[in-house]
Amino acid sequence: MQLAAAALRQLAPGALYFVPGWRTPFKDLQPVPFGARRAMLGQALRAAGLAGRPEVKISSFEAGRRRVVYTYETLEHFGRRHPGAPLYFLLGSDCLDGFRNWRRWRAILKKASLLAGLRPGHALRASVEVPFVPLRGRFPRAASSGLRSALFLGKKPPAVSGAVLAVIEKKGLYLARERRLLERILSPGRFGHSLAVAGLALELAPGLGIPPQKAALAGLLHDCARELPAARVARLVPAKRTAAMRYKEILEKAPVLLHAWAGAGLAREKFGINDREILEAISLHATGAPGMGPLAALIYVCDLAAEGRGFREAALVRRLARLDLAAALRAANYVKLSYAFSGGGWVHPLSVSLWNSFQEKKKG
Ligand SMILES: [Fe+2]
Ligand SMILES: [Fe+2]
Repeated sequence: MQLAAAALRQLAPGALYFVPGWRTPFKDLQPVPFGARRAMLGQALRAAGLAGRPEVKISSFEAGRRRVVYTYETLEHFGRRHPGAPLYFLLGSDCLDGFRNWRRWRAILKKASLLAGLRPGHALRASVEVPFVPLRGRFPRAASSGLRSALFLGKKPPAVSGAVLAVIEKKGLYLARERRLLERILSPGRFGHSLAVAGLALELAPGLGIPPQKAALAGLLHDCARELPAARVARLVPAKRTAAMRYKEILEKAPVLLHAWAGAGLAREKFGINDREILEAISLHATGAPGMGPLAALIYVCDLAAEGRGFREAALVRRLARLDLAAALRAANYVKLSYAFSGGGWVHPLSVSLWNSFQEKKKG
């Protein structure tokens, strides 16, 4: 937005187009409908004082193709639309370094001049191969991954205007819909715990190569069935019960554990989740299981170690998780088993198998 404002001042162009792509820039999200993105962009333009200027336009060219559209194609489109007019392509200096990896980058340079704004940490270096027109000013970069995490957790980052936040809320974007549904079925305390689990999962996910939206969803929903009446929980447990679940034994000895499997059922039914890894993470968050996938391991650790847990081991496991998730997984399992043994309770065989799998790995 700041780049656009500077370009308007410096070049006074006849037209300045914002061209949202077909896919959201947050690649792991479902594509947000163009209408919603245009509404958000419109609000951001208003906040930046650019709305209502006749030369500022939002183009549906890329979003309307329903496929990834390359920049050279977009420039061809605007070249046809404004024959004979000089075209400029606006970008931050951080994009110049990798520009030669762009699809048909030479074709881009033939069709348009690059208009580059200085981003901190990316000097505007003159280059024979990739010439550009420098934009006057400095343009701090909004940390998009931090923003996205904040939005997933329902926070209100100052970099996002109130009007944009209102659109996000109204359209249920960035998991606003899921959080709303969840808030209706959980007590405030449990909802807060779910946000804390999602927050820690979001913090750790990038280092593990896990898509942030998956981490956030699994964290938010892991306890979605925790406060439902027992009869509803029993109905939600998937009909295809595996032998490893020990359904009959759980019912008799530790029915509370059923909320994990029931949670996966509810996530599918009420929240429309079909992602196998998310459903696995919800199903196994209470017991753990040997061989569980990376997302399931992450949520198992985060459930035990999230902010707000009242036992002292939580903070220790949290610290460990930031250094070594595999070690944190072993520690979380140890803490859970220790509490179960000292309390004299029944321990689910999957939790014991998880412990045994660590010992076998040590030997192997
Ligand atoms: Fe739980
Ligand atoms: Fe939990």
